[in-house]
Amino acid sequence: MSELNKIALKIISGGKGILAADESNGTMTKRLEAVRIESTPENRLLFRETLFTSKNIEGCIGGVILYDETIKQKTKSGKTIPDIIYEKGSIPGIKVDTGAKILSNSPDETITEGLDGLRERLKKYHELGARFTKWRGVYKITDKFPSKIAIHSNAHALARYAALAQECEMVPIVEPEVLMNGDHTALECLKKTSEVIEKCFEELIIHKVDLKGVILKPNMILPGCDSKIKISKEEVSSKTIECLKKSVPNEVPGIAFLSGGQSEIEATENLDFINKSNNTNFIMTYSYGRALQQNALKTWSESDKDINQTQKAFNKRVEMCTLAAQGKWSKQLEKN
Ligand code: 13P
Repeated sequence: MSELNKIALKIISGGKGILAADESNGTMTKRLEAVRIESTPENRLLFRETLFTSKNIEGCIGGVILYDETIKQKTKSGKTIPDIIYEKGSIPGIKVDTGAKILSNSPDETITEGLDGLRERLKKYHELGARFTKWRGVYKITDKFPSKIAIHSNAHALARYAALAQECEMVPIVEPEVLMNGDHTALECLKKTSEVIEKCFEELIIHKVDLKGVILKPNMILPGCDSKIKISKEEVSSKTIECLKKSVPNEVPGIAFLSGGQSEIEATENLDFINKSNNTNFIMTYSYGRALQQNALKTWSESDKDINQTQKAFNKRVEMCTLAAQGKWSKQLEKN
């Protein structure tokens, strides 16, 4: 077993999932201001430290994705954030893209940037303790999009990123996110997501990326937020599995879904349904940002930053998602 494969499996095996706490300062500012908290480096650190020291990180969260600011921060105890994550038996990871920028010749779409100087940045992050990385390509669905340019250029960037991450002995999380925005049907989402993922693997293979040392982070197959044609949890599950079965090579050890704007309960229930009927060899788990943090952040703000209450809310979410990652979640357990 290669080292990269071992790291990937350590992050996602046995119902463990990933906490995506890698919001850029811009995104984190929006999240904090929405609950009327000032976005300062101290507040960003305090909220994240509260999450990372929660009881259920141990045993449930195999990896935590950090942002550049956070991986370099120290807590009052003098420990670094990666130290705190290792102490909980989890692995620190790092978002390494520098964001989605306007795509030339298709200006309503984006290309994710960050390849310039990436090898040097990766080396620094490895020294700081990171053992896995994340890069997110973003695609939208309309009658014209995602365009061939967006599909090709983002797949190419994801593959170049993944090759560099592996060169620096870190597992790349490859995240092609097809957004939920719009009124498209689930069937359209299935078609476009499959095309996007297939192209990503075509490029990963061209770039000789070791697929056993990769984690795929896709969206689930859902109708657009504004679609009038809703589908059942069973259909979300069967369409998501159908998409991944046909577009992901067997060597890939696991898939960790993003939540993409689903509510905490929806993201948990859908993951549970997927695992209850998972007939593939892939581990299917979570790599949630909003669907793990929403209630905890609300509690943090409403309780005047009370650590116990915030950790209680977060622990519950993590526990439920880890049950869902094993197909063992139920509405009853959620209520308890
Ligand atoms: P959400 O789960 O909030 O979609 O975030 C996951 C993520 O890491 C997006 O890049």
